[in-house]
Amino acid sequence: MKTLPLGNSGVEVSAFCLGTMRFGSAHDETISSRMMEMYIEAGGTFLDTSNNYAFWVKDCTGSESETFLGKWIKEHGNRDELFVATKVGFNTPAIGKSLSAATIMSECEKSLQHLQTDHIDLYYAHCDHRETPLEETLTAFDALIKQGKVRFIGASNTRAWRLEEARNVSAQNDLAEYCCIQQRHSYLRSNAGVDASVQLEANADLLDYVAARDITLLAYGPSAHGTYTKMDQPLGGSSAGPDSDARIAALKDVSSETGATPTQVVFAWMLQSTPPVIPLLACSTEAQMQENLAALQVTLSAEQMTRLTDAGV
Ligand SMILES: NC(=O)c1ccc[n+]([C@@H]2O[C@H](COP(=O)([O-])OP(=O)(O)OC[C@H]3O[C@@H](n4cnc5c(N)ncnc54)[C@H](OP(=O)(O)O)[C@@H]3O)[C@@H](O)[C@H]2O)c1
Repeated sequence: MKTLPLGNSGVEVSAFCLGTMRFGSAHDETISSRMMEMYIEAGGTFLDTSNNYAFWVKDCTGSESETFLGKWIKEHGNRDELFVATKVGFNTPAIGKSLSAATIMSECEKSLQHLQTDHIDLYYAHCDHRETPLEETLTAFDALIKQGKVRFIGASNTRAWRLEEARNVSAQNDLAEYCCIQQRHSYLRSNAGVDASVQLEANADLLDYVAARDITLLAYGPSAHGTYTKMDQPLGGSSAGPDSDARIAALKDVSSETGATPTQVVFAWMLQSTPPVIPLLACSTEAQMQENLAALQVTLSAEQMTRLTDAGV
């Protein structure tokens, strides 16, 4: 699979990251394993999990995804070939929202155990936590890097100005800095003023920020939960409006010009953006995985990229 630089980390990662949020919980072991196999057979090596996936599923506690991955990777003996990302800090009944040094240190140990590994390649602050001083959070992450337990750090659900603050704190204190940002991002965008609570969308500010700094945007929710497969149905929710009409029209046009499905066009648009956006691929079936992976073969012209990006502006 094609690779892309991960911010200023100096490493390259797979152009598609595999989102494993539902593995071992909403998705049983059989389908979770199949998704892993298909992704890895396509050459992918970049896995995304969290210390809280998926506590909201009935009878689950939040360690299911990490535990599934740990077992799968051990059985396949391929830890060294993979780049594993996990996260800390999101509000859960068991842990509570926190990026304190104590939470980061203790949750890292638990994640290492669940993942059955001695290091995490990329460790995210899962959401911003303004009650904890950035210096405390970054000092804890930096200590984990010095201990060899973490290689790189990233942020998620964090606004651009807070990323810049964090970057300054790292520079002033000689601490590791966030190399990437994971935010909600798809082709359709929410109407202005929509309160997404903690799950922040990559807004114009953030897109401008990542273009100006050496920091990679990773898109969660890229397929907008299959929305682009049902564009003839009325669009509900926070994206519906004049902007979405124009964007759906552009997507349909580019889809018919290229022969790619609308979902594939969305993934190709992300990968060919400047700077490229890495989508977090999540699929419930083999057919979806095949369709989405094939987006790697879709090439959009410069004119099509501009038309898609500018639609609805
Ligand atoms: N940092 C954060 O706060 C955060 C938040 C959420 C997620 N994430 C990460 O991002 C990953 C992806 O997030 P997400 O699951 O919300 O992404 P998504 O792309 O919005 O949704 C994935 C779902 O969309 C449907 N889908 C995908 N491809 C399709 C296709 N070609 N045709 C039809 N339907 C398709 C499937 O749902 P159906 O079951 O309906 O078919 C699939 O399970 C997660 O696994 C997790 O790793 C991070």
